[in-house]
Amino acid sequence: MNKMVYDGYTLYYADQGEGEPVVLLHGFCGSSGYWEQLVPLLSSSCRCIVPDLRGHGLSDAPLGAYSIEQMADDCLKLLDELDLPKVTMLGHSMGGYITLSFAERYASRLNGFGLIHSTGYADDEVGKLKRLKAVSTIQSDGITAFIDGLVPGLFAPETAKSHHELIEKAIEIGYKTPPQGAAGAAMAMRERPDRRDVISASALPVLLVAGEKDQIAPEAKVFTTGHPNITKATIQGAGHMSMMEAPEELAGVIQSFLKRDR
Ligand code: MLT
Repeated sequence: MNKMVYDGYTLYYADQGEGEPVVLLHGFCGSSGYWEQLVPLLSSSCRCIVPDLRGHGLSDAPLGAYSIEQMADDCLKLLDELDLPKVTMLGHSMGGYITLSFAERYASRLNGFGLIHSTGYADDEVGKLKRLKAVSTIQSDGITAFIDGLVPGLFAPETAKSHHELIEKAIEIGYKTPPQGAAGAAMAMRERPDRRDVISASALPVLLVAGEKDQIAPEAKVFTTGHPNITKATIQGAGHMSMMEAPEELAGVIQSFLKRDR
């Protein structure tokens, strides 16, 4: 892993492959490790830049609430550090919320962007309450109990039965999330605004990927809008974690998006 330090804050990232730069942003309580199976499938034709987001993996996890905007700003700093004028940014779930905030403010730094099992909707009132409950569970029961409760539901029920090792891997990654990082990111997600208009009004090519069996971000929440610049794809059989459940299929979708007519 490489590291970037700015304003006393340290962010770790992987940088692998050659070609068009693609930034992959993981989801809540994940890390760059979420993309481990996908990156080798892309890195013969792309340069994959894969950070551990603020509060996750090896990156610093300051105390207190974070914001999605701040996490997008970390990504901007990373592009500046790497001297990358433009990238394609693809975000998984929470990483998708960050991608939308980035696209809203820094569209000139993007060739295109995509949401993988993510949505432009904000949390509703029930969702906001669940964030507070998540924070209190993390604080009272600890990160391992929280992750044990969270991770199995991220996978399609069939994957949970046939590929238990994938769940174990996601759990192992989740356990490494600093508790204050998980709490800070939960609060960031709670406060994020509705950004469906960033998708519908974007002049950039947009990729929206859903998992057929996703129980967290079902198709209807992912495919909120349509216009000629939007490519939609559903990964059959996958839940919320197609980068682990169906990496070949997801890599195929991403490669077609990158090779689209420009
Ligand atoms: C994620 O995987 O990042 C989460 O499911 C996002 C969320 O809780 O909204």
